[in-house]
Amino acid sequence: VSRVLAGIQPSGTLHIGNYFGSIQQLVKTQQENQVFAFIANYHAQTSVSDADMLKKYILQSAIDFLSLGINPDKTFFWVQSDVKSVLELYWILSSFTPMGLLQRAHSYKDKTAKGINANHSLFSYPVLMAADILLFDSQIVPVGKDQIQHIEITRDIAIKLNTHLDEEFFTLPEYQTSDNVGTIVGTDGQKMSKSYKNTIDIFCEQKELKKTISKIITNSTPLEEPKEYENCNVYNIAKQFLNKSKQEELKNRYKQGGEGYGHFKKYLQETIYEYFEPFRQKRQYYLNHTDEVRDILKDGARKVSLIADEKISLLRDKIGIKY
Ligand code: TRP
Repeated sequence: VSRVLAGIQPSGTLHIGNYFGSIQQLVKTQQENQVFAFIANYHAQTSVSDADMLKKYILQSAIDFLSLGINPDKTFFWVQSDVKSVLELYWILSSFTPMGLLQRAHSYKDKTAKGINANHSLFSYPVLMAADILLFDSQIVPVGKDQIQHIEITRDIAIKLNTHLDEEFFTLPEYQTSDNVGTIVGTDGQKMSKSYKNTIDIFCEQKELKKTISKIITNSTPLEEPKEYENCNVYNIAKQFLNKSKQEELKNRYKQGGEGYGHFKKYLQETIYEYFEPFRQKRQYYLNHTDEVRDILKDGARKVSLIADEKISLLRDKIGIKY
């Protein structure tokens, strides 16, 4: 059993690339591992400044993740800002973080290169992330490729402190990327990503789903003729939802001819809508019971605070803050 820590950036609507690229594995890993999952609202604060938006995103993310299978009976699930010791650790780690380490961070360099105003929280973002991870002695951290360097920075900071204390006080985390699932393509055939505006959202209504799917780019093979499924965006999206035998069935429909892309799109629409139906029902329940969601989050925070406070209290003593 490993300790897996997942930080969820609360930034609005989830799409099927998020689902197959990370959420599904996180949900699965709950069966074998001890999962710690939190909503990184302090981190979100570095990019979202509207208070109402930030509040809305926290609850919306919590509801979405619970609906998609985060099980609060097995997994610790909380909001970052409800566990205060993370900020104390952030400060302590700062004293062991060389400036150069942060100056080399790609995400900081990219953001400032794009003209985003550099403030201190953007600069020290990786230190707070290190605090999130090290506070719980996390062993495995599932992340997207863009976050790998942050895990490396976390290891560097942990090594600095461990060396200073002359003991393995912090566990060195390993990152885990979901390369094995392959790229989830969007409506234009590129990787599905918000920034490409080619996403299919998990919880959109039928009408919107239909509209999005109608925009999927296909070629112009006439209806009667056999079609290639390999490079067809409709097929490549659909296969994520289908088991082997259903995939074969669909391949055969392509090969036979006599059906147009309109038929395959309609099939895709029905498939996606059906696939997420149980999740949609759970989500409706949580949307109607937001107090229950808040209770789950507060309960999660209470439980992990016990672990966090113990770690911090030990550290205070070791570095001379406790007197
Ligand atoms: N920075 C991460 C992201 O953008 C979110 C995050 C914050 C995180 N703290 C973390 C991820 C700790 C893993 C571990 O996706």
